[in-house]
Amino acid sequence: MRKIVILTGAGISAESGIETFRAEDGLWAQHRVEDVATPEGFMRDPELVVNFYNARRAQAAEVAPNAAHHALAQLETEHDGEVVVITQNVDDLHERGGTKALYHMHGHLKGALCASCDHRWPAPMVMAAGDPCPSCGAPAARPDIVWFGEMPYDMDTLADHISQADIFVAIGTSGNVYPAAGFVAEARRAGAHTIEFNLEPSAVGNQFAEHRIGPASETVTAWVAEVLAT
Ligand code: OAD
Repeated sequence: MRKIVILTGAGISAESGIETFRAEDGLWAQHRVEDVATPEGFMRDPELVVNFYNARRAQAAEVAPNAAHHALAQLETEHDGEVVVITQNVDDLHERGGTKALYHMHGHLKGALCASCDHRWPAPMVMAAGDPCPSCGAPAARPDIVWFGEMPYDMDTLADHISQADIFVAIGTSGNVYPAAGFVAEARRAGAHTIEFNLEPSAVGNQFAEHRIGPASETVTAWVAEVLAT
């Protein structure tokens, strides 16, 4: 029973209508990473940061999972081995598509985090800079997003899953951000077969044994059908 570990990035949500980060007209062309995705940026201008993620949260609520999200949920239900999805995405399209074994390694838009005491609670649709923490009362609510310079969530558990993978798959991620970009190397060391799904080879594309080039809604759906047929 083959264990399948799947890493996803912004490319899997692109066909749902959420822009990726590094496309020519992507989020990082419109906003400075240092301003909206670092703890220093939040300390400088919390309102700018909170509003940036309010806009992302509103956008995520308006879109729907696409065929690739649904195919991964079907794989989890019907494959006769374990399937684990690790996403770098902060939207909830995997959950809404039906995936259950899911790790949000970069946090998620539905969460709020206290910058003072680390308490976590469900985020309102619209956060305001200076919202009080329901636990300690500090005016320090922030989105529960892992910013540059911060440690992604669940790293020990993710390393365990990757070390047990028979098949490791990366879907719609550019391979620019570590530690996620290093997962393929870990999976290879563990003896997994590795497959990359993307519109083009990623920055770590040469480390994958196999490439499926094309939109995820088509390539992932076709691959899931193949896996379930064998
Ligand atoms: P990127 O924007 O860096 O990369 C998106 C990837 O998806 C690119 O390689 C595209 O070629 C590919 N892609 C686009 N549309 C696709 C489609 N329809 N089907 C298949 N592939 C497609 O996004 P990530 O790799 O997810 O972190 O970025 C990683 C992290 O960098 C994010 O989690 C975020 C960002 O800064 C933080 O904010 C901390």
